[in-house]
Amino acid sequence: MRKNTLIAAFVGLVLPVLSTSAQDKVDFQKQVYPLIKASCVQCHRPEHESPDRPGRKVKPKGGYVFTNAESLSAAEGEEGVKFIVPGKPADSRIIQVVNLPLDDEYHYPPEGKAPQWTKAEIALVTKWIEEGADFGGWKEDDKPLEYPEWDGKEKE
Ligand code: HEC
Repeated sequence: MRKNTLIAAFVGLVLPVLSTSAQDKVDFQKQVYPLIKASCVQCHRPEHESPDRPGRKVKPKGGYVFTNAESLSAAEGEEGVKFIVPGKPADSRIIQVVNLPLDDEYHYPPEGKAPQWTKAEIALVTKWIEEGADFGGWKEDDKPLEYPEWDGKEKE
């Protein structure tokens, strides 16, 4: 190949790959939050009145609320491990718990209670943390008590 051809090949093939990966930065609100909403919010939403027993309060499990950026950023799980450590998915409790074996007592979401994240979904959340866990201006869910109904079937 001539030098010009090589340069053309570089510009044509390599640069687009570099620029798409920059564009492909994971978008928290569009890509990550829906996964949290579907699999975690049922148990980790703000305190609210019980629909079945009026007057009774339902508290977020473990005291953890996943419906706003501030509490997600501040939360610490077992042994003080922060839920989200920007740039370090392996040190982030959210990634640790979903990767534990299903029958581990610290695996979340508990089996059969909410849909498990697929490998691709875990990879996406992992990438978001790797890229710096940028909430991109997202502050909170404006309907923090609602979550999608689950038909009980795990995704492939
Ligand atoms: C069916 C209810 C339920 C769902 C759904 C659920 N959790 Fe939890 N989670 C709990 C309970 C209960 C605790 C508190 C356990 C305790 O305090 O001993 C907890 C605690 C935690 C903790 C802190 C404990 C630790 O091991 O560090 C993390 C982290 C966590 N959940 C992550 C998640 C994530 C991530 C999701 C969604 C992918 C999720 N949970 C979905 C019930 C749930």
